[in-house]
Amino acid sequence: MNVTIIDHPLIQHKLTIMRRQETSTASFRRLVNEIAMLLCYEVTRDLPMTAEQIQTPMERMDAPTLAGKKLCFVSVLRAGNGLLDGMLNLIPSARVGHVGLYRDHDTLEAVEYYYKVPSDIADRLVIAVDPMLATANSAIAAVQRLKDGGAVNIKFLCLLAAPEGVKAFGLAHPDVELYTAAVDRELSKEGYILPGLGDAGDRIFGTK
Ligand code: PRP
Ligand code: URA
Repeated sequence: MNVTIIDHPLIQHKLTIMRRQETSTASFRRLVNEIAMLLCYEVTRDLPMTAEQIQTPMERMDAPTLAGKKLCFVSVLRAGNGLLDGMLNLIPSARVGHVGLYRDHDTLEAVEYYYKVPSDIADRLVIAVDPMLATANSAIAAVQRLKDGGAVNIKFLCLLAAPEGVKAFGLAHPDVELYTAAVDRELSKEGYILPGLGDAGDRIFGTK
């Protein structure tokens, strides 16, 4: 499969709490934020480094620092905003774009209602985020929109994926690395991930 599973004890433990149906909106939101920081740590593991000469209180040294490669996080609205906040805690200087999509409940097709990204997106490493990759229709549409807008270097980060979605995403965008904390068993006939965690947007924002 074309996917990197970020399998870390802290992530898996937090994900289990998020899956529990009795977990409150406040806890769910806090956990998305915490898990996003851990996922961000892994998805940025191969960022290019350079060295910069600095003066410590003791002497001069060549110290490692991130190379000038510019980052842009793209939130797939609205549930992507839950992950985005945690990622920005770690990298506050990242630029941010938004792609607004919702799933048509009957067709499961993604419907776009908003798009705004930095004008220099072509020069940036783009990390698109959405907690759920079910059919992957939303992720495929979001990445296509970013490519049409000029993005060339894209990673896609989610929290939970269905095997059907992983396969579809890989076929549509074989050049885009996909990261997730877990791949669940299957999709329900209504397009929900099983066992999953329910509707991520509703659980983050307390809507239903
Ligand atoms: C959810 C989720 C993804 C999409 C995944 O969004 O956040 O964007 O469904 O499903 P897919 O892989 O089958 O496309 P939803 O459409 O419920 O909108 P929301 O974020 O506004 O709640
Ligand atoms: N979107 C969600 O939020 N949850 C699912 O299980 C599928 C799509």
